[in-house]
Amino acid sequence: MSETILVTGGAGFIGSHTCVELINAGYQVVVVDDLSNSSEEALRRVGQITGTTPRFYQASILDREAMDRIFEENQIDSVIHFAGFKAVGESVQKPWEYYWNNLVGSLVLTDVMRKHGCKSLVFSSSATVYGDTDLPLTEECPKGNPTNPYGQTKTMLEQIFTDLYVGDNEWNVVLLRYFNPIGAHPSGLIGEDPKGIPNNLVPYIAQVACGKLERLGVFGDDYDTPDGTGVRDYIHVVDLATGHVSALQWMKGRTGVEIFNLGTGKGASVLEVLHAFERACGHKIPYQIMPRRAGDLPTVVAVPDKAREVLGWTAKYDIDDMCRDSWNWQSKNPDGYRG
Ligand code: NAD
Ligand code: WQD
Repeated sequence: MSETILVTGGAGFIGSHTCVELINAGYQVVVVDDLSNSSEEALRRVGQITGTTPRFYQASILDREAMDRIFEENQIDSVIHFAGFKAVGESVQKPWEYYWNNLVGSLVLTDVMRKHGCKSLVFSSSATVYGDTDLPLTEECPKGNPTNPYGQTKTMLEQIFTDLYVGDNEWNVVLLRYFNPIGAHPSGLIGEDPKGIPNNLVPYIAQVACGKLERLGVFGDDYDTPDGTGVRDYIHVVDLATGHVSALQWMKGRTGVEIFNLGTGKGASVLEVLHAFERACGHKIPYQIMPRRAGDLPTVVAVPDKAREVLGWTAKYDIDDMCRDSWNWQSKNPDGYRG
């Protein structure tokens, strides 16, 4: 019988793409999402892509009764935990909301899990836990000190999930540190649907490309990088999604805590991404050099060797593929799921 995976935050950007890959790999998928940053339409579209719409509970992971009911009504084998708030700048303005939702939500989730004897967890961590270290970013690097509450929640949750295992060796935890997820499903049916003006580079470029925003502000061109603009390890969201399937397959029957970077190992600068997007959409994209954004680092690139060696997973898509699929999604859904 196939395994059942509970995907928290499964209607979101990374969650919806992971639902597709889980269903394609033969898993049964149950989603819990409070739709605070997403739309149920994403799950209908997962159904369009795969032929199977995940069973959906609209509830917060903070709601213990609702979470209990989900575990009573489904035989959950593992949880992939995406649910949380994720906007770095907003977390500085609303620290209480971030700590409450991300930390307390995760504590409720793991309490309900252990009550129901489900101790297998894949968690969405982030490269942000490395802080401003300039060592090659392997999983062994010491964690840095995140400069914002969002980053703090990732660092704290990594510690909490590690300690759960120390206290109870039946836990089986995989911490996946994502670098910069972009792109969209090649079908153009699901993608990133930010509310308001996007904070992140590629959604912003996409909205300039389709004429919703006037021009891209490039945050600094005087970094110590080949063209002076910030360098990041962009990873296609479909590659990220298959990374979760590889992690689940690898962790089956194990216990412990293991950390994996999910990145490509290749950096791209802001201007390189801009030019790749121009190739994708077929026209110039206006931009202007602006001052640096507070808290930004010059270069953040993964060493992805451990995921390749242990999970047998590598990213397949390059920056042109990512921009092509972002543009395909943006041009087919100019107003996201509201369209
Ligand atoms: P997203 O906002 O699209 O998805 C998160 C989902 O969680 C949303 O659908 C939201 O409605 C839901 N949610 C939030 N709080 C909830 C709660 N209390 N109960 C139930 N559902 C809740 O974000 P995403 O980009 O898909 O990110 C998914 C995860 O990956 C997050 O934990 C994020 O911090 C992490 N992550 C994202 C990035 C990135 O750049 N996108 C990078 C590293 C890590
Ligand atoms: C990328 C590059 C900017 C917007 C964030 C979080 C990180 C992780 C991934 C969750 C940088 C430049 C951006 C713009 C620009 N999320 N830029 N103009 O900051 O690398 O990572 O998302 O865990 O924690 O911090 O991503 O897309 O915002 O920026 O020039 O309008 O693009 O300076 O060099 P970032 P980003």
